Amino acid sequence: MKTFKNFIGGKWQEPASGEFFENRNPANWDDVIGQFPLSDQRDVECAVLSAQRGFEIWRSTPAPARGDVLRRVGDIMAKRKEEIADLMTREMGKPLTETRGDVQEGIDTAYYASSEGRRLFGHTVPSELKNKWAMSFRRPIGIAGLVTPFNFPMAIPTWKAFPALTCGNAVILKPAEDVPHTATALVEVLLEAGLPPEVIQLVHGRGEIAGKALVEHPKVPVISFTGSTETGSFVGETCGRMHKRLSLEMGGKNAMIVLDDANLELALDGVLWGAFGTTGQRCTATSRLLLQSGVHDEFLSRLVERVRTLKLGDGRAKGTDIGPLISEAALNKVEKYVDIGVAEGGDLLIGGRRAQGGGKGLEKGFFYEPTIFARVEAGMRIEQEEIFGPVLSVIRVTNVDEAFAINNGVKYGLSSSVYTRDVNVAFRAQNELDNGITYINAPTIGAEAHLPFGGVKQTGNGHREGGWGVYDFYSETKVGYVDFSGQLQRAQIDNYLGTPD
Ligand code: UN1
Repeated sequence: MKTFKNFIGGKWQEPASGEFFENRNPANWDDVIGQFPLSDQRDVECAVLSAQRGFEIWRSTPAPARGDVLRRVGDIMAKRKEEIADLMTREMGKPLTETRGDVQEGIDTAYYASSEGRRLFGHTVPSELKNKWAMSFRRPIGIAGLVTPFNFPMAIPTWKAFPALTCGNAVILKPAEDVPHTATALVEVLLEAGLPPEVIQLVHGRGEIAGKALVEHPKVPVISFTGSTETGSFVGETCGRMHKRLSLEMGGKNAMIVLDDANLELALDGVLWGAFGTTGQRCTATSRLLLQSGVHDEFLSRLVERVRTLKLGDGRAKGTDIGPLISEAALNKVEKYVDIGVAEGGDLLIGGRRAQGGGKGLEKGFFYEPTIFARVEAGMRIEQEEIFGPVLSVIRVTNVDEAFAINNGVKYGLSSSVYTRDVNVAFRAQNELDNGITYINAPTIGAEAHLPFGGVKQTGNGHREGGWGVYDFYSETKVGYVDFSGQLQRAQIDNYLGTPD
């Protein structure tokens, strides 16, 4: 079996424990990709010491030169796109079309981060005093600890690592234990592009041990976490207590609203992609479908027909629409929620069971049939809770107000979508839906790397990834005043005009 290592201290290293875990293909559990380090706080300690040295080199490298490294990262990733997509599908399960998109999102993020190396704008503003300049600029912070999920094995680590690097920080990455191979490829790319080796550390292992040690380390002032809201609460408590800067990206319960005036064919394509793409394992997945009464019955019967044609299978095989779930535990969670949905009185229209193998090899993987519940009511658990699987809950609504209220009636607030031809309703949706992202005539998934990504309420803690805002998160704003008047000038006092009578 192939043995993979951590990348710490500028070299590939075995973990202090000498122990490893196996990485297997979720489409075929007999297919072992390799073994990866089970790291603990000893490895994190070494990673921090190395990252401190890396930070000293990197912080003094001019930002445009840092950006040049990111440009080469994009170039190398583009060359390796096909190979990385293939290894990603093997360890994560989603079809090659999707893993290619995942790598592309990394490439896009690299080029954006590269160009940002020549901006990283501050402000120069007039001072209220004569012969005095006032300006703000950015400084790197230190070591950024990144804890990333399995569903976007390349894109999400790059969303965090690339802006952190452009801003001049050193990075310690703890990727999800389901997808360590893609993270290994990412580090290889960074090194090949010329990143000084100690600027990046890769620490594999379990969240409860390696991830926890990283989050709790006092020398890691910045933490970015994507994962469940439950784990996010733990991370948030720790970071709050330790006064760390923290970006959280957590759950979603995203709704697509299809109104009576919608283009139904377009909405059908959208919901199939939004609900069942990535086997529903996206924080942005469409997991609720709100259908207005006038189109409800027709849309639903057409949807069920289309779902019947979706092909489950190995993501590396031609013609596969839906890959497996990531693990046995994920499968069990989906099964549990389907039982809950049945018990709550949902009408199970299609799916609701593990894929039937029947000689197609599916019995070796974690395949679950795309599942639709109709007659779901607002407030049911399958309408409120994140399932992270191919389960769609359909709710009948009578009007726009009701649809918007149901959209907003969950604790999450990542993305939403409205299919309508009415421009007023489209803009009302932008104003009234409590989400970080609202799509009009497109499904709830499909965020682009150069725009801010994130959600409101329990989805996040106010930060965004992607786009321009993330560079604020990874840098410290400093203000410089230069007084060249040659005399003491007192702000708020010497130029004060007095109180108007
Ligand atoms: C996620 O849902 O976990 O918008 C990330 C999208 C992707 C990123 C999703 N570009 O669907």
